[in-house]
Amino acid sequence: MSVASCKTKKETAKTEVAPVVIPVLDCSTSGLTFASVQSIFDKNCVSCHGYRGDAGYNFFSTADIRRAAKNGNLLGTVKWHKGYPKMPAQANQLDKVSINLIECWIANGMKE
Ligand code: HEC
Repeated sequence: MSVASCKTKKETAKTEVAPVVIPVLDCSTSGLTFASVQSIFDKNCVSCHGYRGDAGYNFFSTADIRRAAKNGNLLGTVKWHKGYPKMPAQANQLDKVSINLIECWIANGMKE
């Protein structure tokens, strides 16, 4: 068996294929503070996760929002990831801009 053909065979076709673009969230210039995301929670979450404290969360409190962010439940629920209850409950999913804001606020260290 000869392996000589391997040396002459050049694969060039692959370079002509357009690269698959996987969108990556860019949070580098967002400079978000809690004020940037607070209205999202006020509008969509505190009716249940406020004084009622559903699931043990009061999202009037940044401490509770941080807790949900750190244990993964916040993004899991708003992004409707498998294994998480879909939030906001009994409503449509948050718009992409709002989800990105929350994700970037977390990625940038959850600044006040
Ligand atoms: C209509 C009431 C309601 C609204 C509005 C609501 N939630 Fe919930 N949420 C619940 C209930 C009830 C649970 C308990 C889990 C379940 O059985 O669905 C829960 C659970 C959660 C949990 C815990 C999930 C877990 O796995 O422990 C998080 C985090 C959460 N909600 C975040 C949010 C966020 C963020 C919003 C706003 C975008 C929101 N919720 C809006 C009722 C609500």
